[in-house]
Amino acid sequence: MLSRQIVSELTRLETPFYLYDTDLLRRTLESVVYESEKYGYKVHYAIKANYDDHILGIIREYGLGIDCASGNEVRKAVELGFDPKSIVYAGVGKRDNEIEYAVKQNILAINCESIEELHLIDAISKKCGRKTDVALRINPDIDPKTNHCIDTGQADSKFGISYEEVLQHVDDIRSLENIDIIGLHLHIGSQIRELHVFENMCDKVNVIVENLTSLGFAIDFVDVGGGLGINYDLPENEPIPNFASLFAIVRQHLNVGSRDVHFEFGRSIVGQCGELITRVLFNKTTATGRKLVIVDASMTELIRPALYGSYHNIENISSQDSATEKYTVVGTACESTDVFDENVGLRRTKRGDLLTIKSAGAYGMSMASRYNLHDIPSAVYSDKL
Ligand code: LLP
Repeated sequence: MLSRQIVSELTRLETPFYLYDTDLLRRTLESVVYESEKYGYKVHYAIKANYDDHILGIIREYGLGIDCASGNEVRKAVELGFDPKSIVYAGVGKRDNEIEYAVKQNILAINCESIEELHLIDAISKKCGRKTDVALRINPDIDPKTNHCIDTGQADSKFGISYEEVLQHVDDIRSLENIDIIGLHLHIGSQIRELHVFENMCDKVNVIVENLTSLGFAIDFVDVGGGLGINYDLPENEPIPNFASLFAIVRQHLNVGSRDVHFEFGRSIVGQCGELITRVLFNKTTATGRKLVIVDASMTELIRPALYGSYHNIENISSQDSATEKYTVVGTACESTDVFDENVGLRRTKRGDLLTIKSAGAYGMSMASRYNLHDIPSAVYSDKL
């Protein structure tokens, strides 16, 4: 809960904006570093979750690498001073110029998602006079038991190469002289709260690593992706995700000898550190009796509820009213799905009140759009208030 003093400072600012709790970000980073160091695990931050410069600067202080999904993300990481040898780059559809940039930066690995892409990386590496380190992104066919919009590792998904296809092309892959297959990469999905699914993932990885090794591939590291979920229902109860439990499961079930083990966390690093602060514009009641609160944010600032039906906890931080009412909180965009939540209990809400939409540090700002020519939201940081 934000202090009265902070709320009164926020009241003077133009809304909507993202408010980032940099102290919580630091405590989250301390936790992930502390827990990962117990096992010698390497952690990359999935920059797609939030590419804010101030946030990235703090993340860099803690020595994390970066996981990228586009050439521009690789460029951003390099330009902000992340060591290229801590950068990995995945993506089903990399353009030639994006691959060329990554090849020239000599990053840790391009995580390759198709046989055609392997050939292209080989050809571009040859043209650049380089040998490029590549990890094979294998689709492990695992149900991560999360929202189906954000699972990525099931057999029919567009992500990764099927293991069978790799086996069919072993000689072909071996013949590529300008790439070295040095790693194995998987990412089964996002917002995973049932941690036992990571056990299934480890079991599959064990078999794949053993087989690839016996086929002559020198796999140095296994990158098991990200996906650790956060508590959207009760963020105050779990501000820092349970990295310790995930690492303990992987430690217990992954059997990859002395190879390095990497993770790529996005949501779990920044999700709870950010909230979207928005102001109530109007209240009205529909003919059916539904009480609407119309706020000055919309799906253009935070698209997750409209896109995936995702839940974000909302609170009225201005009202002192002890009475609560049920409201439907809607945004300003010309879309009927622009609804932040229905039937949400809020302290009695009036024009001008500030609402906070919590757990919005990941995939909030980074998915903002300019639909309806809305401005991209600004950011306010607790250490700069
Ligand atoms: N590695 C790869 C290859 C990924 O595709 C992703 C996320 C991550 C790591 C980081 O996953 P995380 O730790 O954040 O779960 N926009 C959606 C989430 C899409 C995730 C895409 N990939 C949302 O708002 O829920």
